[in-house]
Amino acid sequence: MTDTATTEDLAETANTIDETPMPESFTVTVQVRRFNPEVDQETYLQEFQVEMYATDRVLDALHKIKWEQDGSLSFRRSCGHGICGSDAMRINGLNRLACKTLMKDLDVTKPIIVEAIKGLPLEKDLIVDMEPFFAAYREVLPFLMPSGSEPERERIQSPEDRARFDDSTKCILCAACTTSCPVFWTDNQYFGPQAIVGAHRFIFDSRDSGAASRLEVLNSKEGVWRCRTTFNCTDACPRGIQITQAIAEVKQALIRGKI
Ligand code: SF4
Ligand code: F3S
Ligand code: FES
Repeated sequence: MTDTATTEDLAETANTIDETPMPESFTVTVQVRRFNPEVDQETYLQEFQVEMYATDRVLDALHKIKWEQDGSLSFRRSCGHGICGSDAMRINGLNRLACKTLMKDLDVTKPIIVEAIKGLPLEKDLIVDMEPFFAAYREVLPFLMPSGSEPERERIQSPEDRARFDDSTKCILCAACTTSCPVFWTDNQYFGPQAIVGAHRFIFDSRDSGAASRLEVLNSKEGVWRCRTTFNCTDACPRGIQITQAIAEVKQALIRGKI
């Protein structure tokens, strides 16, 4: 006996592979809200037909449209795997990442409507100006502010201390939360939920000493008190962060005057 496969073995393997059913493709109607600032006064929906598989994502549909039908379609994406946060958009009215939204999770018998996220200045098609969003994030001082002189070894933290802010470390700055918040839509003074999550990540970090400065920022008229506990932000977050709870913890810290 040898380990070498016989011609019969190979033929049998080939037959087995041939019997594997090919996944079926289907045609999906995708309606994309378009806007070109050089020619359009208003946005409008444009319809495309795209051949898709159940495991394709909305990002794949947008790529097919751009590469095969209309190269002028504009949208942001980078990693393609839910990490970089650059492709948040409204899909059938809900904020989602296009790279994490599978065809099989949508009703593909109806048109899939893809639009830019709301509440930030529209630049082109699915691209918005993210600067107001990042400006709010910068306001809360999103970096570690340790006290004392530089230690000779790493700053030790217990698992319990880490658990206090673990959830808010998962933020990928996609803006799905802030641009789903009705207060943010109607009141461009509000920092929005992401900035509060970004502050929470450091306020409750036992190695940090900047909580008072951040709480002062969030106690301002643009801060946490504008939140009406609508929960849209928590529902929209692709990382599953309990945003409304983080906001409540920041409010409690302000009321009690301690972390
Ligand atoms: Fe995106 Fe969630 Fe971070 Fe908001 S909290 S920016 S939804 S990852
Ligand atoms: Fe807005 Fe979230 Fe509060 S949607 S109102 S920030 S709970
Ligand atoms: Fe990076 Fe979707 S492309 S999160």
